[in-house]
Amino acid sequence: MNSPMRHAPAPDLLSRFAAIVGDKYAVTDPNDLAPHLIEGRGLYHGRSAMMLKPGSTAEVAAILKLANETRTAIVPQGGNTGLVGGQIPFDGELILSLTRLDKIREIDVRSNTMTCEAGVVLQKAQDAAAANDRLFPLSLGSEGSCTIGGNLSSNAGGTGALAYGIARELMVGVEVVLADGRIMNLLRKLKKDNTGYDLRHLFVGAEGTLGVITAAVVKLFPRPRSVETAFLGVPSPEAAVKLLNLAQSQIAGTVTGFELIIREIVEFALKHGHNVRDPLASKHPWYVLMEVSSQQAEGLRDNLEEFLGSAIEQDLVTDATLAANLDQAKAFWHMRHTLTEVQKPEGGSIKHDVSVPVAEVPAFLAEASDAVTKLIPGSRPVPFGHLGDGNIHYNVSQPVGADKADFLARWGDVNAVVDKIVLKHNGSISAEHGIGRLKRDTLPKVKDPVALALMRDFKRVLDPNGILNPGKVL
Ligand code: FAD
Ligand code: LAC
Ligand code: ZN
Repeated sequence: MNSPMRHAPAPDLLSRFAAIVGDKYAVTDPNDLAPHLIEGRGLYHGRSAMMLKPGSTAEVAAILKLANETRTAIVPQGGNTGLVGGQIPFDGELILSLTRLDKIREIDVRSNTMTCEAGVVLQKAQDAAAANDRLFPLSLGSEGSCTIGGNLSSNAGGTGALAYGIARELMVGVEVVLADGRIMNLLRKLKKDNTGYDLRHLFVGAEGTLGVITAAVVKLFPRPRSVETAFLGVPSPEAAVKLLNLAQSQIAGTVTGFELIIREIVEFALKHGHNVRDPLASKHPWYVLMEVSSQQAEGLRDNLEEFLGSAIEQDLVTDATLAANLDQAKAFWHMRHTLTEVQKPEGGSIKHDVSVPVAEVPAFLAEASDAVTKLIPGSRPVPFGHLGDGNIHYNVSQPVGADKADFLARWGDVNAVVDKIVLKHNGSISAEHGIGRLKRDTLPKVKDPVALALMRDFKRVLDPNGILNPGKVL
């Protein structure tokens, strides 16, 4: 594969790119560029001479055509909330921001689809669906700033995936600009379309390395007529898995959220979170945040109360509180969504976003915590995550009083120990955040070699000059 440009594009080339979008949308002021060169975890700091903000698919196409002809590397960026460094220009690449492509082109309530441009912020898509009495169920802590294009490119999971599917399953059609500037229009609303290879899915989860998503058709669902949210103390992850299975078979509704949270990180949230209160009066080693939804307007709450009563009798739940109203439900979710932020004041945090079969989560947790605390005595595992998907954010905070830099220097050692246990349980080292730069060098160690070779072949075919997000994923 030819290498993309490794030096900053010359001023005359920058002017040619700027002419495509107009000077106003060719950002070069270092102060305006600065927030786009760093990511939320503070792990990476990139550099770039220009951020281009196209206002149409045609402008994206013109940018990529010029980039391909001049071998200029491009990094697509949406809301810049990614957690693996995929959206950061490490080596002077131009940033291609999709945020001006922010129109919802159509909501088709009879076909239950919504056609969004790539830069539509997730929350705006959710709100638009709700205003049409529909549900767009993708839900992430970053939903106030992440974009539909970023969600699809990272194949985001989130809290609704258990019932409604991950981003890939919510995508029906897609429009993609290829590396050479050609526009591939697969913006159909069809569930069934067996006209050859299904190319749509190549671009979902590709993290901007195979093409630039400019629009998508996504699925809408009927809005549930009743939703109940419960915060539960549970004795162990084993109890939580049993509870999940029972809830899925016994509740006359759908389990639309099932998050497992360890006590220690609830303590972090109570200490550092804004407006966080402990929903339960007593302390429990683990918690489950459970949401159930029904198309029946009445009866769900009684059904859930009865179910939880029986779960308490079986010692699967030690205490329970049901949200009395929407505000209380929001408060439970608010605590859940602060869990990323509240780790920061506790010092260094070494992260893992892993999945194992749901039934093996308890064994994984026990083995990982044993291994990590043996490796670094005093380190504090604070796992939480989407238990219903077998997806745990196995984060480890530094020992109290330890040096942050020294602790973070052990990132690779801790990952190696945890990843080994994940693989033993036939799991994945990246459940929902992707590979980006963070896990690029680990991928060859864990991916089937034939699959990895095919990934490289696809990259060569779709981006022969290597201009799209170089150095990410592969
Ligand atoms: P960016 O961060 O801008 O980009 C992400 C990747 O996609 C990069 O590789 C970028 O190059 C590429 N990209 C962006 N737009 C395009 C495009 N239009 N075409 C081609 N490539 C593109 N993730 C989850 O899966 N589940 C969670 O529960 C979750 N919770 C989070 C909570 C918090 C508080 C935070 C900060 C992050 C969370 N994330 C979660 C991670 C992140 O929000 C998601 O990965 C999100 O989908 C990224 O969207 P974005 O628009 O910010 O993309
Ligand atoms: C969450 C992010 C870290 O689930 O994926 O909060
Ligand atoms: Zn998550």
